[in-house]
Amino acid sequence: MDELAILGGPPVRTTPWARWPEFGEPEREALLRVLEGGEWGGFPSPNTHARTFNRAFADYIGTHSATACANGTFAITLALQAARISRGAEVITTAYSFVGTAGGIVAAGAQPVFVDVLPDSYCLDPRAVEAAFSPRTEAVVAVHLASAMADMDRLQEICAARGLALVEDCAHAHGMRWRGRCAGSLGDLGCFSMQSSKLLTAGEGGAVTTDSDIFAARLEALVNCGRRDTPSTAGVEPLLGHNLRITEWQAAVLCAQLERLPEQHERRRRAVERFAQGLAEIPGISMPPVDPRSTPTYYQLVLRYDAAAFEGVPRDRFVEALEAEGVPCSGRFYVPIHDDPLFAADPRTNPAYERQRETPNRYPIAAHAAYEEAIWLPHHLFLGPSEDVDSLLAAFRKLRGRSQHLKASLDPAPPGSAFA
Ligand SMILES: Cc1ncc(COP(=O)(O)O)c(C=O)c1O
Repeated sequence: MDELAILGGPPVRTTPWARWPEFGEPEREALLRVLEGGEWGGFPSPNTHARTFNRAFADYIGTHSATACANGTFAITLALQAARISRGAEVITTAYSFVGTAGGIVAAGAQPVFVDVLPDSYCLDPRAVEAAFSPRTEAVVAVHLASAMADMDRLQEICAARGLALVEDCAHAHGMRWRGRCAGSLGDLGCFSMQSSKLLTAGEGGAVTTDSDIFAARLEALVNCGRRDTPSTAGVEPLLGHNLRITEWQAAVLCAQLERLPEQHERRRRAVERFAQGLAEIPGISMPPVDPRSTPTYYQLVLRYDAAAFEGVPRDRFVEALEAEGVPCSGRFYVPIHDDPLFAADPRTNPAYERQRETPNRYPIAAHAAYEEAIWLPHHLFLGPSEDVDSLLAAFRKLRGRSQHLKASLDPAPPGSAFA
């Protein structure tokens, strides 16, 4: 077996992986139609392609409506505003997510209250949610992470019992299902991101889904600076909105991309299944457990790394070595949000600042995932030909077979060491 690439050997993979995003004639035609039609912007809102996308996306998710918007961060803001969350209200959410989850809450004028996650799903721990309630709590934002759904049964019960709004952050979960129903159709509102890396993308973009007519009407007004000049927004109360409209370029591309999504899900599912079969023979790396109530999709595949099975080599070193073999991957894809330098402890703009100071390191499961256990593999690794899965497995096998070398590379080599 070759030496590890991180120690100077040849990498397992030197050729490019599948390209993301995928596109073709439908996207070209859609963009040309927008170009030549001359209606490029989101105004009047929703404009032609945005209206078509809203209908198609709502039908795909299984909700009465979808409202396209600028991005996933402000989809969360819009959802909380549509639910009329009070200024300064507490909104319970996960400690293990992208900063946009917290940023969207802050932008709605609310205070994020972070709680820990479950070890199997890395999603909100419902018991921790209950423990975090205060009289100021008005909503819960549940993130469906990577390929896992939050426990929507328990979260629905908890929120219904307390009269809280349940918002789903579905930035990773376009088409993921819970008991057969799509993420984004289980809470009061579902928030999506269509940023470049996402399973459905126009480079940037977002959407909010809901079954509630009043929330839908408020969303339509809110993305359009609060205007109430369409039949569906006429009955909405005056709301301070912003220009969060989606452009026609984005909406037209999203319509074409949505057509591709079911086949892409199926292609990734088959590749992940084959990868899982091979991985089962590699001790120390395991697949994320799947909740039988859920049907995963794969924004990322988050493997579990057991350092004890790799001579105590820390996860970060393993990830470095895997990257050196030509596998795009990440260990610290997310850190607990409090630790993220993008979530600056700025007392002027960050209402979570005080709590952040009061409750450092209160998220042991999130911290374990972030710093020791999780290996994030992006979804495009599972979109290419079957040889891609072969290369992935070959890289993991190589690291397994050479774990002593990896370990030795961490320690100062004793004189005469075999690995010096
Ligand atoms: C879980 C999660 N929530 C929210 C967001 C914010 O979405 P956007 O980047 O479109 O603002 C992201 C995006 O990366 C995300 O991964």
